[in-house]
Parts: sequence; C-alpha cells; structure tokens
Amino acid sequence: MEPMSDIETVKIDLGERAYSVVVGHGAVGHVADLIPQGVQRIALVTQESVPPQFRPTITGVHTSVHFIGEGESFKTLGTIERLCSEFARQGLTRKDLVIAVGGGMVTDVAGFAAASYHRGISVIHVATSLLAMIDAAIGGKTGVNLVEGKNLVGAFWQPSGVVCDLDALASLPAREMECGLGEMAKYHFIVREDLNALPFPSRVARCVGIKGEIVAADEREGGIRAFLNYGHTLAHALEIETDFSIAHGEAVALGVLFAAHLGRALGRIDDVRVEEHYHVIREVYGLKITVPKGLGIDALIAAMGRDKKAVDSLTFVLDASSGLEVVSDVSVEAIKQAYAEFTSRNS
Ligand SMILES: NC(=O)c1ccc[n+]([C@@H]2O[C@H](COP(=O)([O-])OP(=O)(O)OC[C@H]3O[C@@H](n4cnc5c(N)ncnc54)[C@H](O)[C@@H]3O)[C@@H](O)[C@H]2O)c1
Ligand SMILES: [Zn+2]
Repeated sequence: MEPMSDIETVKIDLGERAYSVVVGHGAVGHVADLIPQGVQRIALVTQESVPPQFRPTITGVHTSVHFIGEGESFKTLGTIERLCSEFARQGLTRKDLVIAVGGGMVTDVAGFAAASYHRGISVIHVATSLLAMIDAAIGGKTGVNLVEGKNLVGAFWQPSGVVCDLDALASLPAREMECGLGEMAKYHFIVREDLNALPFPSRVARCVGIKGEIVAADEREGGIRAFLNYGHTLAHALEIETDFSIAHGEAVALGVLFAAHLGRALGRIDDVRVEEHYHVIREVYGLKITVPKGLGIDALIAAMGRDKKAVDSLTFVLDASSGLEVVSDVSVEAIKQAYAEFTSRNS
C-alpha cells in the first residue's frame, strides 16, 4: 500500500493479471490511470440510483452509458444479453472497455458481461457501495442468478483496476451502509490485526488488501478463500428462511456472532474472544440487528445442509487462537447449543 496524499493504492498480486485498487475521497479521478492501452470505446454500466458524478469522464474516448435495473430480479442472463447487444450496437471490439459504476449488483453483472462479450474484454469497477468496495468488486467473481438460485452462472474475470471513491458513501442508503459494515466486521476476524486502530479510509483499504491477499493465494477457492465466508454458513440459512427479508450484510453480522458462540461451544475460543466479536459488531459498527422471530433451528440446519436429506454434521469456518480454520463434522448437538446461547442474547 502506497499512501499518495489521502489516496491509497492497493495492489492485487495476480501475476500478469495484477491490478490496482485506488481507495479514497475523490478516487474516481484516478480511473484514467487504470485504462488499458488501445481502448477506443467505453461502455459504462450503471443504475439510476447511483449518483452520476461517479461516472468517470475520459477525454478522447467515446463513452456510451447503459442502465440496468435495481435489485436481484434484474441480475439475470436477460440483462447480460441486452447489455451485450448494446455493446455490439455501439461497436465495442475485443480491445475496448466496460466500466461498472455501482454496487455489487452492477460490478457482478457488468463484470460478467465483460467476461462474455467477445469472449472477454477489459473491465474497470468503480465501486459505489461499501460492500462493493471491500468485497464484490475485488477478486474477479462475476455472475448472475437463475430462478434456481443466486449466482449460479458466472465467470472468474479479474478487472484491469478498481476505484473505491469514499465520497460515494455519502448518498448510500443507511441500510446498504449497514450491510457493508456487516461484511467489513468479518475482516476483523480473518486477520489478527487491530483494524479498529485504522481510520475508516485506511480500514477500507486494508479490507481490500486482505481480500486481495486471499484471492492471490487462492483465486479459484480451493482453500483459504473460504475464510472470506466467515459467518456466512448461518447467514445464508437466515436469508433463505426469511425469504431474503433479512439483507445479506445483516445476516453476516448475525452469522459472525453465531460463529463465535459455536467456536466457544467447541472449545476453540474463550469468553474474551466471544466478547471481541460482540464489541466489533455492536460497538465498532453499531449493528443492532436481532435474530428474526419464528425461525426454528431444525429448518436452519436443513438450510445449512442444503439439499442433504439427513444432516448429522456440517462444515463451518471457525475461529481459534491460531486463526480461522475450515472445520468439518461440526455436530448438530454443538450447533443447537450455540444457537440457543446466540438467540438468548440476540432476540
Ligand atoms: N462478486 C463477489 O465477490 C461478490 C461479493 C459479495 C456480494 N456480491 C454481490 O453484490 C450484490 C450486492 O451488492 P450491494 O450490497 O452493493 O447492493 P446493490 O449493488 O444492489 O446496491 C444497493 C442499492 O444501492 C444503490 N447504490 C449503490 N451505490 C450507491 C450510492 N453511492 N448512492 C446511492 N445509491 C447507491 C444501488 O443502485 C442499489 O439500488 C449481490 O448481488 C451479491 O451477490 C458479489
Ligand atoms: Zn458476504
């Protein structure tokens, strides 16, 4: 990380696909530095709610603007087909560029359109939600939903660069900000560093760096990339069992607390470490979310076991004094004990 005034640049070290992530107030002014050579046309993909000042203006390059709908129901192959047709009508070639300006929905969709069009053209992400800055725009996962499930079709497609302009957070709706903070909280437990000590802009940059280091070590999720899913096993089940009325980042905040209880139930961490989890979620990020009413642990366990008919044990990412680990064969008994403790404290 090189400090350049109040702009920080984080390198994502992926060999010949390495790229920079520029973080800071006004960072969108740095997009021009990230554009690959030879680009003659830019297709900028965004949404109506994303403030237009985060659309970079690149002099001397023809830029067309393409809007996509808002919400997961527009994260479809239909949207990809429409975008690619629009790119073709604009005359974009193999050497041209897509710029995504928005949250994780835009970076996932525009990233997948870029991965598919002409079998892959360059893409730059201008992340405008906190979740996109610290998670979705980094690491090269792109894709769309099917009726059968979220993110079922996609590609690994690394961007040529990413910009996280912190000015964008000023207009982000409060609930979206909280979702980003829920995701940010998990990073406190992926590394054993005092992220609390960092001012917010540097903390965003450090989260980018942590995700970058993990992706560089495990681009295709064979191993430690799973650590990025800390808190996510319960979180996904909470989302499914509430028909997605709980937002992903809210569910992650709860999932991180549950993971702490489960870690303690298995003797992996002590009371002090559990309280550190509560401190980060409740005090540092002020996330007050409670467990939705009417959820049964049996249904949650079934959801965590996905399509398995009978579930005796499950796999979780769990904390220990040596750091996170993927732990398989966690017994249903331990899960139920931890869930009872967790709900008695968070209802
Ligand atoms: N690829 C990955 O690794 C990865 C990781 C995490 C999440 N995701 C995906 O990211 C998506 C969620 O992303 P998200 O939480 O950013 O939500 P989102 O992209 O749906 O954005 C939420 C809303 O905020 C609006 N918005 C965005 N920036 C704004 C701004 N600066 N001011 C005002 N409004 C703004 C958007 O238009 C949208 O209406 C999901 O589809 C999820 O699957 C992908
Ligand atoms: Zn997540």
